[in-house]
Amino acid sequence: MTAIHPLAPLLHPMTRAQADAPIGIFDSGIGGLSVGLEIAQHLPNEQIVYYADTAHVPYGPRDDQEIRELTAQAIEWLYRQGCKIAVVACNTASAFSLDYLRAHYGEDFPIVGLVPALKPAVLQSKTKTVAVLATPATFRGQLIKDVIQRFALPAEVKVIPLTSLELVPFVESGAQMSAACLSTLSELLQPVVDAGADHLVLGCTHYPFLKTAIQSIFGQKLTLIDSGTAVARQTSRILTKNELLFEQSRADQVQIHCYVSGQNAEHLQPIVGRLMPEQIRWKISNLPR
Ligand code: DGL
Repeated sequence: MTAIHPLAPLLHPMTRAQADAPIGIFDSGIGGLSVGLEIAQHLPNEQIVYYADTAHVPYGPRDDQEIRELTAQAIEWLYRQGCKIAVVACNTASAFSLDYLRAHYGEDFPIVGLVPALKPAVLQSKTKTVAVLATPATFRGQLIKDVIQRFALPAEVKVIPLTSLELVPFVESGAQMSAACLSTLSELLQPVVDAGADHLVLGCTHYPFLKTAIQSIFGQKLTLIDSGTAVARQTSRILTKNELLFEQSRADQVQIHCYVSGQNAEHLQPIVGRLMPEQIRWKISNLPR
């Protein structure tokens, strides 16, 4: 595969990271913190460096190459921060970047990606109709097509794809419960409820932050499923296998340090504060220029 990003060749590959190094997590914006929280709760002794590419969010409308290049830049930054693993907490980025990143970094810098959680929805659906809500770019990628082929078709489950370019900006601006967001969700999801869908796969890491809004409209009519817990478990498995789990408690240290490429940390501070549970120690900073 031709190089998709002029990353300087790793002339001096960094020495293999140690167990006390942080976990790197990346998303196009603050949405991937939904995965960060799952990892923080699953691995309470681990520190997380989170890269939010708020200078370029949303990725959903972008073309494949742009998504690959922005993702490559972010993962390279996490690598150079000395992270011991990188979690691409972005379905859109995972759809286009995982093979390249794994070939580029090899075994010493494991890359964890994610795909919409269609498998559990297919297994649990009583009506055999599930909806998948993701960005247009995610549906262009091969990952989701493979999952549909592998799990939905054999189970004769009908998958209804849904895309929206409006929902990510609502989450990025803290407007999940605004009238505009509620009406967008209602218009988007009512037809699939009418079509008999009993599960909604949240195929974008921003969307778990819309759970309250969706349930305020549809109650228990839709069971909401996301990939966060599965990604946390996979991250733990890889760190365990590579003997890179950090076992000692870190008492009062910051557990999630979020860096934003859009230099808008001050603006995002209260918005992220409303997403973070009390028990998580976190901090937000502008990405050093
Ligand atoms: N949160 C990302 C995802 O899971 C990207 C959303 C966007 O930037 O459009 O797809």
